[in-house]
Amino acid sequence: MVNNPMKTNLYTASRLSVAPMMDWTDRHCRYLHRLLSKRALLYTEMVTSPALVRGQARHLLRFDPVEQPVALQLGGSDPAELARAAEMGADEGYPEINLNVGCPSDRVQSGCFGAVLMEQPALVAACCAAMIRAQPSEVTVKCRIGVDDQDSEIVLPEFLAQIVGAGVTRVTIHARKAWLKGLSPKENRDIPPLDYDLVLRMKGLFPNLHISINGGVGSLEHAKELLDLGLDGVMIGRAAYHNPADILQRADAVIWGDDLGPDPLDVVLQMRSYIEAHMSDETRSGGKLAHVTKHMMGLFAGQPGSRQWRRYLSENAYRSGAGWSVVEDALAAMEQAAA
Ligand SMILES: Cc1cc2nc3c(=O)[nH]c(=O)nc-3n(C[C@H](O)[C@H](O)[C@H](O)COP(=O)(O)O)c2cc1C
Repeated sequence: MVNNPMKTNLYTASRLSVAPMMDWTDRHCRYLHRLLSKRALLYTEMVTSPALVRGQARHLLRFDPVEQPVALQLGGSDPAELARAAEMGADEGYPEINLNVGCPSDRVQSGCFGAVLMEQPALVAACCAAMIRAQPSEVTVKCRIGVDDQDSEIVLPEFLAQIVGAGVTRVTIHARKAWLKGLSPKENRDIPPLDYDLVLRMKGLFPNLHISINGGVGSLEHAKELLDLGLDGVMIGRAAYHNPADILQRADAVIWGDDLGPDPLDVVLQMRSYIEAHMSDETRSGGKLAHVTKHMMGLFAGQPGSRQWRRYLSENAYRSGAGWSVVEDALAAMEQAAA
């Protein structure tokens, strides 16, 4: 089934992935996550194909090669435009281009992106086929189990059959329906309930499709249980962001049997050169300390003094002139509180 070495690598990496999250999984966040785990697959925030193709927003694709393996998530529903956006992503060096069929936000619905596409599987298949034809990187899909009053038992296998027919061999299923009206995107991340069994049944129906499950996974132990049930991968969103050390520092050991990642204090110290380079590079969206440190707030989650660490950073990293010394002072505040 898989003979391209790059794809094989992604198949292995996607045993554990960090979900695409708008405003969260930007390149600073991914750089931090990569220090903690060498193995996990990382996703960008969603970038829309109109922004890339019509808006010429190529800068949205920038990333540091050390983030690899990193997948680009696209939003869109026009096959030709998505094909062009995928080509731009492949040119930029992304080995995977992922189509968002899961995002329920209003803005996204109005442009006919995201979860609303669960209602148009033939269009999604046409989008995937066009993206596959246009460029060499692997094309994957992140979808829901259905939307609104759709019957997931019927809709999901039909949807998967369509995208498999288009040539997709790897998919991530967020195991809850999207509600397109009446719930905010935030509420829709916890309501309605998750249906892991349905996703497991899809693995039975599509044994050759690489299926990652997403939604509500809060620990590596939980991820391991799902892998042991026969799923090919687990994607973790909020828990990886809010508690990156607990999920990502241990991921290489627990999921792949490799060494543990560096501890959070080492990671903070390793971020110094990155932060200083970011702050001295004016092309990097203003180079503010807080652009990077906002993703570091959860590094010491659950440890003594973590509240002081977070508070010090949130009160001081946005101040004008804030630099590396703010991070050192936040560490000192944490140590003092823990003593
Ligand atoms: C702040 C935030 C932004 C998100 N943005 C995206 C996005 O751009 N594309 C996408 O497919 N899903 C997005 N999601 C959904 C996540 O990828 C994931 O499916 C969801 O959070 C459920 O996983 P979890 O329970 O592990 O967090 C977002 C979630 C959050 C919390």
